Amino acid sequence: MCGIVGYIGEKNAVDIVLDGLKKLEYRGYDSSGIAVVKDGQLQIRRSVGKLKNLEENIEKKHLKANISIGHTRWATHGKPSEENAHPHTDPTKSIVIVHNGIIENYAELKSGLEKEGKEFKSETDSEVIAHLIKKHYKNNLLFAVQETLKEIKGSYALGVICKDEPDKIICARQDAPLIVGIGEGENFLASDIPALLSYTRDMIFLENGDIAELTANKITITDIENNVKKREVKNIKWDCVQAEKEGYKHFMLKEIHEQPRTIEDTFRGRIYPDEGRVYLEEVKLSKEDIKNISNVYIVACGTSYHSGLVSKFLFENFAKMHTEVDIASEFRYREPILNDRILVIVISQSGETADTLAALRLAKSKGCITLAVCNIVGSSMSREADHVLYTHCGPEICVASTKAFTGQIAALYMLALDWACRKESLSKEELKKYLKELWEVPVKVGNFLKQAESVHEVAKKFAHKRDFLYLGRNVNYPVALEGALKLKEISYIHAEGYAAGEMKHGPIALIDDDMPVVAIAVKSRVYKKIISNIEEAKARGGTIILIASESDKTALDKGDNVIYVPDCDEFISPILSVIPLQLLSYYVAVMLGCDVDQPRNLAKSVTVE
Ligand code: G6P
Repeated sequence: MCGIVGYIGEKNAVDIVLDGLKKLEYRGYDSSGIAVVKDGQLQIRRSVGKLKNLEENIEKKHLKANISIGHTRWATHGKPSEENAHPHTDPTKSIVIVHNGIIENYAELKSGLEKEGKEFKSETDSEVIAHLIKKHYKNNLLFAVQETLKEIKGSYALGVICKDEPDKIICARQDAPLIVGIGEGENFLASDIPALLSYTRDMIFLENGDIAELTANKITITDIENNVKKREVKNIKWDCVQAEKEGYKHFMLKEIHEQPRTIEDTFRGRIYPDEGRVYLEEVKLSKEDIKNISNVYIVACGTSYHSGLVSKFLFENFAKMHTEVDIASEFRYREPILNDRILVIVISQSGETADTLAALRLAKSKGCITLAVCNIVGSSMSREADHVLYTHCGPEICVASTKAFTGQIAALYMLALDWACRKESLSKEELKKYLKELWEVPVKVGNFLKQAESVHEVAKKFAHKRDFLYLGRNVNYPVALEGALKLKEISYIHAEGYAAGEMKHGPIALIDDDMPVVAIAVKSRVYKKIISNIEEAKARGGTIILIASESDKTALDKGDNVIYVPDCDEFISPILSVIPLQLLSYYVAVMLGCDVDQPRNLAKSVTVE
């Protein structure tokens, strides 16, 4: 996963591809690589770390070619290393590919190829693509790619070249962005617009199922069955800064809007609703190991701590496992009672937060079983924990975390369901039902985001307020904490998240007509309870911003401002109810002129105590 650039034409392709990759550096990456066809041979260079390492490696002056594909990698399968960096080839080094996305069925494809005697050089899911294209290759690269894509399940943005057809690049797209840039006597390929803006503004945005053949003078788009497709050429007016954010004003807004895809990517290849099956390859605990766990401790910081609080409900409700959640800096300095029957789950987007890492090390020293939920492959926590469960959210650039939060809940939800099924606290039929619900979440999030403007309208009314109270109950209490944290982080407004039932023990004294109260009152077992709490706040003059279920016909009677989210199972609802709160804080911060992506005094990854 990360950046792809390709070039075919008269100029030195190496310079253009390297320049394009540099334009994508802002997205973050851990390694990079480039491939060319030169004098009938493929030449590949790959390096770990920054692009300057790759530049040194390719001895730029000596590597010239008219066709090239390049890649910056942000690891999803396999640690960052030269072997795992793209491009990948088949064993005879005649086909070379770069790939963004996730191949869901790579494990079975790989074992089939291994039985045929093929050797793999990397731990990536992508390498199978090069092997399969070679297998299908009979002097027609386009056909070989089409045949390969018939076997592949998952998401891909793909660039392919072949040493025997040095006059073309084949590229293909399914659920991962890919753009073809149009030049004169030259054509380009990229995963993102900024890579190409110095060369052309005429671009074709490939659609799902498109396979494009690029020569220096021609672009032909077909589908898997070789039917020709017509696609509109768009002239891009954005400058480079706008393009990096895909036209959004800030990375935060872009990342909020990415959530339908990042949640889906986290589920991809792991849940099978029709079969009632969860497949979490990286978590290697057996049924007996799970049954032997006496307690679960979830330890994390910041937003990740809030996703831990949500997950407690999932482990207790589904897997019937006693679960405690702790802030990492507290956990490590008390004397938690730990032993080898305790599972400690650390949650961290970065996998590097100092307090969480120290908590993990403490747990390991006490003999606990450890599991890290991380977004960054190869991070310290993912290397040191006994087991790791990755969220597949891609790089998160805004300091305030959004897509990592929903990705973490999605990942832990799958884990809780899987263990519930293995512990037989959930029947196969119930599992199917919940998996189906989960599978629908990305679409529901996407539907909600279509009406993001409604949240903007609410934000306009309240941006000038200096204090906010956020209320939630049960599984949505952590969402109230997260909503308040988001507002504090990026708009510097004082906000408190509270368990709604606890309001009468203190915060109710704060409520007057100057205090907006954001209440999460989606349909759940505690719906009536939170409605009573809202009435209490209203009676003290509080202005209510209500997050309600779409089907709640009486919501308007309860809140002065109602934001509707799609109906769903109550244990999934945090993924949906947090989205309006992310947007609310975003719009308020923009209206106050705050530096949304780089809030004062905060760091993306806190690697000191
Ligand atoms: C910092 C960031 C937060 C993040 C927290 C934990 O405070 O600003 O956005 O939630 O660290 O980070 P982690 O990488 O461990 O999830």
